[in-house]
Amino acid sequence: MNYSNLNFKALVVEETTGGVYISRVKEKLISELPQGEILIRVLYSGLNYKDALSSSGHKGITRHYPHTPGIDAAGIVVSSEDARFSIDDEVIVTGYDLGMNTSGGFAEYIRVPSRWVVPKPTNLSLKESMIIGTSGFTAASAIYEFIKHGVTPDSGRVLVTGASGAVGSMAVAMLAHAGYHVVASSGKPAATILLKELGAREVISREEVEDISGKALLPPRWIAVLDTVGGNTLSSVIRATAERGIVTNCGMLASNKLDVSVFPFILRAVRLVGIASAETPMERRLELWNLISGELKFPEMNRIYHSISLHEVPDAIESMLHSKVSGKYLVELYPDLP
Ligand SMILES: NC(=O)c1ccc[n+]([C@@H]2O[C@H](COP(=O)([O-])OP(=O)(O)OC[C@H]3O[C@@H](n4cnc5c(N)ncnc54)[C@H](OP(=O)(O)O)[C@@H]3O)[C@@H](O)[C@H]2O)c1
Repeated sequence: MNYSNLNFKALVVEETTGGVYISRVKEKLISELPQGEILIRVLYSGLNYKDALSSSGHKGITRHYPHTPGIDAAGIVVSSEDARFSIDDEVIVTGYDLGMNTSGGFAEYIRVPSRWVVPKPTNLSLKESMIIGTSGFTAASAIYEFIKHGVTPDSGRVLVTGASGAVGSMAVAMLAHAGYHVVASSGKPAATILLKELGAREVISREEVEDISGKALLPPRWIAVLDTVGGNTLSSVIRATAERGIVTNCGMLASNKLDVSVFPFILRAVRLVGIASAETPMERRLELWNLISGELKFPEMNRIYHSISLHEVPDAIESMLHSKVSGKYLVELYPDLP
């Protein structure tokens, strides 16, 4: 079948005069999509912080507008020029350039290079794969580093910062399900109930994590930290990590600056690991999806997401930019699907 003249719905962000960016659901043609070996009918996408930045004109994420954001997509192959994928295969695409400068998952169709495409793991539904999406994949990437470093559920307390956000809440649920003693740090007192339901043993405020003394080393509190916040939070947790502990950082919600001495590294052998999930090589990607659909697959998945349609994405993005969101937004392209 020739799809090139097929119309489909997509969220389109346009730059207007005065540097204002407006998002609207519009009709597009398949022929307008970028070249690629795999055309996918998208059933689900999910909202990530990068999408909020792309939708509001951050040129570091998206250079040219009009643009369709959406760094995550899951759906069904409708045409393939790669023998490894057949029509009707259920597949996932997260990261790489999807939704950044390549037309993304807030649309009924995407066309992408086959090297970006992951076959859906058998133990996850397409919907579950997008509840997880880049946020869960990022959480799992950090947990993978903990495991590789030898951190076990018996090693001690594991801290998650920005815990009510998409990455944070997913990390709390995955770690708790795997048996770890999880301490969740959140700026939203109202998120305590959700975080406890997801398995956090303790929920503490942002202030309880942040150090204001400026001391080079703080009493050891954590054996592992999954930080989404950066800035003084990251500096504080590095200084409060126990001997031979590990800190991962994936985000910079507070700041992209890090002010810390080398003492935690040379006196306590603390390890700092950066997480950059978008460019994860395919071999590791498949390993991580196995982990996500296996020992990290948590039963509370239905409690962690809010379902929205394409039309509701702009409002959800506003909430995200104002840090009002707990958990994850799942974008359902066909809300009537069972
Ligand atoms: N490197 C990667 O591969 C990768 C992948 C995905 C995401 N990220 C990054 O990770 C971060 C989190 O993403 P997300 O999707 O979870 O975002 P999100 O859903 O918007 O959640 C962010 C959470 O961080 C906390 N927070 C917000 N502003 C803060 C501030 N000024 N100081 C301290 N905490 C603050 C809030 O949680 P509380 O109210 O509970 O504290 C908020 O809910 C973002 O920076 C994102 O760009 C990186």
